[in-house]
Amino acid sequence: MAVGLFDLAHANTGLRGATLRHLQRLVASWQPLADLCFADLLALAPVEGEEGHRFVVLAHVRPVTGQTLYPPELIGTVVQEVERPLVARAWRKLEIVGGDATVLGSAERARTECIPLLLDGAPIAVVSRESPTTSGRRQGELERVYLDTFERFARMMTEGSFPFPRDEVALEEAPRVADGVILLDDQLRIRFTSPNAISSLHRLGIHAYTHGLLLGEIGFDQDAAEAAFRLRVPVTEEIERGETSVLIQAIPLLERKRSTGAMILVRDVTDLRRRDRILLSKDATIREIHHRVKNNLQTIAALLRLQGRRLSTPEAQEALQESERRIRSIAIVHETLSRDAADVVDFAEIIGPLVRVVEETVSTPELRLHFDVEGNAGLLPGEIATPLAVVLNELMQNAVDHAFPDGADGAPSEGHVRVIVRRREGELALDVVDDGVGLPPDFSLEDSRGLGLSIVHALVTSELGGSIEMRDDHGTRVSLRVPLKPAAPGEFGTL
Ligand SMILES: Nc1ncnc2c1ncn2[C@@H]1O[C@H](COP(=O)(O)OP(=O)(O)OP(=O)(O)O)[C@@H](O)[C@H]1O
Ligand SMILES: [Mg+2]
Repeated sequence: MAVGLFDLAHANTGLRGATLRHLQRLVASWQPLADLCFADLLALAPVEGEEGHRFVVLAHVRPVTGQTLYPPELIGTVVQEVERPLVARAWRKLEIVGGDATVLGSAERARTECIPLLLDGAPIAVVSRESPTTSGRRQGELERVYLDTFERFARMMTEGSFPFPRDEVALEEAPRVADGVILLDDQLRIRFTSPNAISSLHRLGIHAYTHGLLLGEIGFDQDAAEAAFRLRVPVTEEIERGETSVLIQAIPLLERKRSTGAMILVRDVTDLRRRDRILLSKDATIREIHHRVKNNLQTIAALLRLQGRRLSTPEAQEALQESERRIRSIAIVHETLSRDAADVVDFAEIIGPLVRVVEETVSTPELRLHFDVEGNAGLLPGEIATPLAVVLNELMQNAVDHAFPDGADGAPSEGHVRVIVRRREGELALDVVDDGVGLPPDFSLEDSRGLGLSIVHALVTSELGGSIEMRDDHGTRVSLRVPLKPAAPGEFGTL
């Protein structure tokens, strides 16, 4: 991984702009190369102003297919020319040189091959391939073919054609050498198929003997390989057949800018795709449930309204209206939850509809009320957003109901209600501020008998584990503090 490659290069080397980008591209796409040669790859660039006498290790990749020689702390190490004459030689002569060297930071010996990385004919770094000398076992066909393919990529580096001149989209699921390799010659005929690639072909229902045939002839999709060959850049494609999904990446092999073959990495992603589908349908189910809950709540609200209209006692009517309003504020949260897969809501989306529910209840025509929302709560899990929506609804309703009484002595013609939200480290602060008459003189939150503040108190302190403070502040200011715990990844909240 390119940990701090940019900073490291800027601090130690003359790599900037296009040359640095070339190196970054190499590091983004060199994992298959390390796997092909069963060895560690190091990228070293000369320390600026020292004419190639000292080199700094800028990046390192380990083989998935073999044993590594190096711990991660290697990056940033500065190497003298005397320690690694091969690196300096590759850098000066612009050619690939091989031989023995000591493992950096130890007395062991390593087999190394130093490859100058060129861009437009000028060297920008040296890639050193390093493996233990002890692996004296005889090479099988697979090893021979892989090493041979690595050498083709090595030559591409010296010709400036690897890495490819475009940014790789870093796919987490990108196929690797160990997943399966098919090698094609300059006629796009199959020259080699690794055992894992054969298994993937089998799963696609291809049992033919493949050697010497075109991919198309064995019933395998050939488009990606052809496109890679023609465009001279890697092409990724997913093939689906029945239940089986196979991801392929066709990487062209170039010689003097001409395509002379291609390496196809093949990965069976059937299980991954199956899991994706299950997750997708689970998300869809959760959204559907929220949608239904919202519909049901709206039905309940409508029933209460109908019933309220039939009552003759104003007090009873009012009680039902309030219940209707409370239910609607919960429905708003479910509405938002039904739109997104994750069990989180953007609280900013909820405040608007909540304000409208309250605005509808302003019954004094002379009073013009302005609602303002400041700040942003960001994303909140459903289990916090729902009680908070109910709480906010109560507080705004109280401002409407109590802050601006229409008395004989000239009722205020204008009022402001501000909702101020601030998200801090592990905490959400929510203030509802009005510029009305303020709290009654003998008011205390603990002794308050109203249902609204009882609901607020219960939800904030018990359900949300937070605190409330109410005080006069040129009107009334209610300040809430609610702790936020970091959501566990993949947590689905209350469902
Ligand atoms: N913004 C405010 N400005 C002035 N007084 C307020 C404000 N908010 C609350 N109060 C006072 O606190 C009392 C209790 O409020 P609470 O919401 O608990 O009950 P309520 O609004 O009277 O009735 P309910 O909410 O059940 O319809 C109110 O009656 C009012 O006197
Ligand atoms: Mg109230």
